[in-house]
Amino acid sequence: MNGLKGKYIIVGVTGGIAAYKAAGVVSALHKAGAQVHVIMTKNATEFVTPLTFETLSGNRCITDTFARDYQFDVAHVSLAKAADLILIAPATANVIAKLAHGIADDMLTTTVLAAKCPKLIAPAMNTAMLENPITKDNIKTLIKYGFEIIPPDSGTLACGDSGSGRLPDQQVMLDYIELKLAKEKTLAGKHVTVTAGPTREAVDPVRFITNHSSGKMGYAIAHEAVLRGAQVTLISGKTALPPVRFAKNTEAVSAADMLCEVQKVLPETDILIMCAAVADYRPANIAENKIKKSDDMNVLPLERTEDILSWVAKNRHDDMFVCGFSMETRDLLESSRKKLNDKKLDMIAANDLNTPGAGFAGDTNVLTLITPDSCAELPLMSKDDAAAKLLDMIEQHIK
Ligand code: CTP
Repeated sequence: MNGLKGKYIIVGVTGGIAAYKAAGVVSALHKAGAQVHVIMTKNATEFVTPLTFETLSGNRCITDTFARDYQFDVAHVSLAKAADLILIAPATANVIAKLAHGIADDMLTTTVLAAKCPKLIAPAMNTAMLENPITKDNIKTLIKYGFEIIPPDSGTLACGDSGSGRLPDQQVMLDYIELKLAKEKTLAGKHVTVTAGPTREAVDPVRFITNHSSGKMGYAIAHEAVLRGAQVTLISGKTALPPVRFAKNTEAVSAADMLCEVQKVLPETDILIMCAAVADYRPANIAENKIKKSDDMNVLPLERTEDILSWVAKNRHDDMFVCGFSMETRDLLESSRKKLNDKKLDMIAANDLNTPGAGFAGDTNVLTLITPDSCAELPLMSKDDAAAKLLDMIEQHIK
């Protein structure tokens, strides 16, 4: 998680069995460099001790409005003023009801009422309580007043019932916080489409032709674009990576599938980043049944796939920005500039597979960003940082 360093985050913990999950969130935020202050309701202290949160956050855990030994003057107001964000997790039906009606009768509810920062609420309770029209109305009221709700998960609940009401995994809550705080929303209002990963071209029902792309670079770009406030469509070949949260994740197995998905989304795309390693050839015929080994089968006839970017060049609208990728093992700049021209790209991100730290599978890359009138050689950096640099460059060009 980037971008949370120095951010001032209040985590409110209320009295539910899921209170223990807040400990993981607090620990991760603290490790990401945020200043985390935990406020517990009295009931929450029955489930987890304040000492747990003090140890994980490095800060005093507040449980009582009238605590005299707290570092802030008029603590609830000072905390509320300092906060960049408040997360309440788990949020019980009781605290949701109080917040919806402006009741401020403990440190957490008084602080929230006094705070102007973004507020995230992660409800967790028994399904019947969650589905009770009173709770539903209270949640609607919170949304009306600008609170954001992290939808509860479904599954087996602590009471033994099965249904909606589980506190989502720690990572989900962290993703919401990161989205709110990590980056300026410089791409708000833009639709960014990113392709990622390898394509697979079937030989028979058992076999396929593919390449070594892991999808990491494309996923990092999609994630960065999400953090910058873009509406993101990620069209990905098969990878081992989890979907990018807050993006529309679409799978495209073959080059033909990927072309089809790009065609669907192109009319509303403002920025297209073709990071996928698309196959240039596919078997001319896909065998209906598994091909059995035989002595005379030693040639696999191939045919060209359609070049997606060449199709885009003919069908793009004028104010769209199109960025391709180019992976080479020699003549990096010359070959990449040729692709930039041939495919009528606005930019191409070139990398040489022979450069240490560049290319497939790893977590780093060495990119050269080439436009018709510039060439920026970036040093070795993480794929997350490379994604940020690439989007910085695109933003400069679309200004
Ligand atoms: N690409 C594409 N459709 C294809 C093949 C590639 O849109 N059928 C895109 C890739 O996503 C990448 C760019 O074209 O953004 C360059 O891909 P690359 O494989 O480096 O080059 P090719 O154009 O395929 O040329 P060559 O394989 O000869 O290097």
